[in-house]
Amino acid sequence: MFPEKSFLNKYAPYYIKGTGYTIFLAIIGVLFGSILGTLLALMKQSKNKLFKWISVIYIEYVRGTPLLVQIFLVFFGLNVLGINLSALASSCVALSLNSGAYVAEIIRAGLNAVDKGQAEAARSLGMSQKKAMRYIIMPQAIKNILPALGNEFVTVIKESSVVSVIGVSELMFQAGVVRGASFKPFLPILIASLIYFVLTFTLSRALGVAERRIGAND
Ligand code: ARG
Repeated sequence: MFPEKSFLNKYAPYYIKGTGYTIFLAIIGVLFGSILGTLLALMKQSKNKLFKWISVIYIEYVRGTPLLVQIFLVFFGLNVLGINLSALASSCVALSLNSGAYVAEIIRAGLNAVDKGQAEAARSLGMSQKKAMRYIIMPQAIKNILPALGNEFVTVIKESSVVSVIGVSELMFQAGVVRGASFKPFLPILIASLIYFVLTFTLSRALGVAERRIGAND
């Protein structure tokens, strides 16, 4: 049941490499997801009907279809369009496209959670719409948005395991490689799960601390 020393010695490099890819995928996914999500959230609030509907349809479609399916869509879809991206690049694209839809909702919810009276008060003090957004609404919305973005990062770390299906050598894929090489069915996956847990647990603890710091400023 417990790994003998030689097992860890032998296979540690696989896990280290896999963990590196997993972290890389999550960072890229959330980074570009946040950029896309901000854009989508702005479009959704926009008075321009076309922008609004594009973002609504995009967000609903992406949130209403499985990430697994989206990964295949991007991987094979780009190929059909004559764009040949590696599995790793396709995964970065798919994770970013997916995360963008979720981040858009996080931002929208964060903005909506700021009491309407705040905007009204700012406007009645003579602030322009832009200034009210920048100095009154945004600083308060950020307090709702940042913790949720942190959770999104935790989610993407876990969800990135799905890209193993197209052969990206992240943690889950490497666990499969170790399983094949060691003829052990259980232990390699157990180790992978522990690594995922250490990653997400550490991150959510760090987020908890950061959240309390932000809260302390109130
Ligand atoms: N596992 C679900 C799916 O396949 C959730 C994906 C969540 N993604 C996110 N970026 N929060 O659709």
